Amino acid sequence: MALLPDGKSTAHDVRTIILAPTGKDGFLIAGLLERLSIPCHQVPCADDLCAEIARGAGAAIVSEEALTSQAIEALSGVVEQQPPWSDFPLILLTVGGQVTPESERLRQLRRPLGNIFLLERPIRPETLLSTLEFALRGRQRQYQIRDQMQQYSRAQDALRRSEKLAVTGRLAASIAHEINNPLEAVTNLLYLLRTCTDPKEARRYLDDADQELARVAEIAKQTLRFYREPNHPIDTEVGSVLRSVLVLYNSRLVAASVAVQLEIFAGSATILSSPGELRQVVANIVGNAIDAMRHGGRLRIRISTCTNRAGERRVRLTIADTGSGIPESLRPTIFEPFVTTKGETGTGLGLWVTGEIIRRNGWTVQVRSRCAPEASGTVFSITMAMRNSAVASRPERQRAVA
Ligand SMILES: Nc1ncnc2c1ncn2[C@@H]1O[C@H](COP(=O)(O)OP(=O)(O)OP(=O)(O)O)[C@@H](O)[C@H]1O
Ligand SMILES: [Mg+2]
Repeated sequence: MALLPDGKSTAHDVRTIILAPTGKDGFLIAGLLERLSIPCHQVPCADDLCAEIARGAGAAIVSEEALTSQAIEALSGVVEQQPPWSDFPLILLTVGGQVTPESERLRQLRRPLGNIFLLERPIRPETLLSTLEFALRGRQRQYQIRDQMQQYSRAQDALRRSEKLAVTGRLAASIAHEINNPLEAVTNLLYLLRTCTDPKEARRYLDDADQELARVAEIAKQTLRFYREPNHPIDTEVGSVLRSVLVLYNSRLVAASVAVQLEIFAGSATILSSPGELRQVVANIVGNAIDAMRHGGRLRIRISTCTNRAGERRVRLTIADTGSGIPESLRPTIFEPFVTTKGETGTGLGLWVTGEIIRRNGWTVQVRSRCAPEASGTVFSITMAMRNSAVASRPERQRAVA
């Protein structure tokens, strides 16, 4: 009999636990299984049975007389706590006979135990063995599902890490680009200074160079903040994270002729979050908005506060673009992995990770999109629990046209 599952399971996982404390059943069954090299373990009481199942087991053989109401209660607890992949098989050795009120009462009591095989005594060894084999095979399938679920979860972790690296990579390219522009300007100004004879003009060149270098310093400051900030949740100002993303996307916005309109009604509103996670969310949504406005457009970003039905203060971050819009057929799946319309240039992981971060932090997201030729565009609206509920929603409207 091939009862052992593949190598991923431990020796415990294939054991058959036997609870038959009265009479000779327990010893006879254990002897039979041992002769056939089927791993088994006898226990004297229901508490030990529960403990052994919790350590790992393939199936259990239990005699009906050991299954008292107390034992059923203890076992139901173990069954209830099973992980989603598990449906532990239990072979119950019953006393033959007619259906009586007592046998019916026991049947009802046993219902919470789930995956039960009933075998009426006296049992032929072949019947017991084939039932056990059937139960262990089912258990083996459950272990395969468990292993697949673990693999899937590991793959998801790897994808999450790779998307984080991809965001970092994209931002690094933006940073290099952003720093290059002012450095080129400073090189030109130094060249002009070398050939300049008018002290007033020279002074102006120096002032311009100062400004350009201040911009390089600002980009360096934002970038260093990005790498130094903690990975765990801290008080995070939504406005400041938003600005740090826009600084790094500035040249892409200019190159795509996108006008940026900031409507910051609650700039100092604070949430409890890892700043890196909020930045990843904003960077993904803004990055997608720029991609959707290849021929120019308007990016409107608003930070405001609102109160939910439970009376809790929330910060709302709205990012709206006038881009191509998300095709209707794509909308239900945009938060799933590998959904992309960008071919080689997109991985389709941006919104999947965004959705995961939003879910993990207990935020909510709403997406509205239109693809009509006369008015297309997309609006992402994220609401997050607010920390400093004392912040007034005072208008602090800014308009920046890139
Ligand atoms: N603002 C938007 N306007 C139009 N389409 C969008 C917008 N945001 C997302 N989409 C659509 O949703 C798809 C999935 O977006 P997502 O960010 O998950 O992946 P991606 O941008 O294609 O690739 P990645 O972000 O991994 O580089 C995009 O390919 C695009 O078709
Ligand atoms: Mg994207």
